[in-house]
Amino acid sequence: MNGEDTAAPYARAFFWKGQVTSMQSFEFYSPTRILFGADTELQAGAQIRALGCSRVLLVCGGNSAAASGLLARVEQCLEQAGLAVRTLSGVHPNPRLSLAREGVRQALEFGADFILAVGGGSVIDTAKAVADGAANPETDLWQFWLRKIPLTRSLPVGAVLTIPAAGSECSDSAVLTNEETHEKRGLGSDLHRPRFAILNPALTTTLPPYQVACGVVDIMMHTMDRYFNPCTDNNLTDELAEGLLRCVIQNGRRALEQPGDLHAMSELMWAGSLSHNGLTGLGGTKDFAPHQLGHELSAMFDATHGATLSTVWGSWARYCLDANPGRFVRFGSRVWGLEAGSKTPNEAALAAIEATEQFFHGLNMPTCLSELGCGVLDESTLGELAYGCTYYQTRTIGTFRVLNEEDILAIYRLANH
Ligand code: NZQ
Ligand code: ZN
Repeated sequence: MNGEDTAAPYARAFFWKGQVTSMQSFEFYSPTRILFGADTELQAGAQIRALGCSRVLLVCGGNSAAASGLLARVEQCLEQAGLAVRTLSGVHPNPRLSLAREGVRQALEFGADFILAVGGGSVIDTAKAVADGAANPETDLWQFWLRKIPLTRSLPVGAVLTIPAAGSECSDSAVLTNEETHEKRGLGSDLHRPRFAILNPALTTTLPPYQVACGVVDIMMHTMDRYFNPCTDNNLTDELAEGLLRCVIQNGRRALEQPGDLHAMSELMWAGSLSHNGLTGLGGTKDFAPHQLGHELSAMFDATHGATLSTVWGSWARYCLDANPGRFVRFGSRVWGLEAGSKTPNEAALAAIEATEQFFHGLNMPTCLSELGCGVLDESTLGELAYGCTYYQTRTIGTFRVLNEEDILAIYRLANH
């Protein structure tokens, strides 16, 4: 699929011919029913009933859903639909394996046949883990996350989303932290795709600005971690990714300047779901190295996911730029509206990286380790991060540029100020 790049001839001129390949074969599976709009949370009961389920374990976070009245509203709607409900609250951001295990125990005791998440990515991921564990009572669920045992069945999950960010409401992934080993790991399976996702933007108006900003970064990164891949082409997937990024940048700014702006939150909410259901990466090979670099920071410092991504991205980008400067030039042109003018490809690529970091700063997001709040780290701590990120020297990360332990350490060093 080699179309003409009419909008940015200078970007096209900088494409490195060796890097441009045709769109790869793909399979797209995004089975989640989306219910978008005002009061859609009141449809949760009917949705679960229609799936033939009757006993619901409702999973939620610390306090926000209870404080806003959402939790009571959803519980009442489930009961009115004739469903039996038990509630498990207390999911922590960077959700813990221990609470997921407790959820499995409760789901089995209660005889749950459906797990409903009311919250953000942490709650939805816990719900997915509980569904896995409850469908496989003979297996400790961490075995699935360690890939020791393949996941072959799970219970159905639904989500009432309260924060546009992780995209878990449509994704195949669930990310858990084993607090005993300080390992943060994701597990991908189509069994994890929620049956339905309820997206009512009004539910996000209680979000603190910091969480809105972290969400904006995360949504962008789900797209950028796909956009920067080794099979770049000029195709519809690129156009979708660039359009989504422009929309998130514009509405991310607006959401922070005008807290509670429903239009901005609506756009972010829909973009968040589309950014991680696979759409913005079709035909390419996912990179996701910045995500892996960020997960190690969350595992070690319990740092908020979105903030870890803005912390590492600029350092990752500068380190990997030579793999395909033209891709960054196109990104600068299409996403940030930058003109390359007389710049060399590397200069234009660096300008695109700087524009991205400036945007992150404008959201009060960190772009280095000290801004993330973990200070400037010593060499042994950086080494520990790099070692953990390779899963103890058993893997490389990334595809745009494949990164080994030495590369990972070099990127952490670049971010260490
Ligand atoms: O616990 P409560 O009181 O609900 O407070 C939460 C939490 O403190 C608060 N919050 C959520 N909705 C709110 C609200 N506060 C006020 N009003 C509302 N409407 O926000 C805080 C963060 O919640 P969390 O669920 O952690 O946020 P997010 O959606 O960003 O999820 C982050 C987690 O998802 C994982 C991340 O690694 C992290 O663990 N991810 C999951 C992915 C997936 N499953 O596909 C992909 C992502 O890349 C990501 O890794
Ligand atoms: Zn993410």
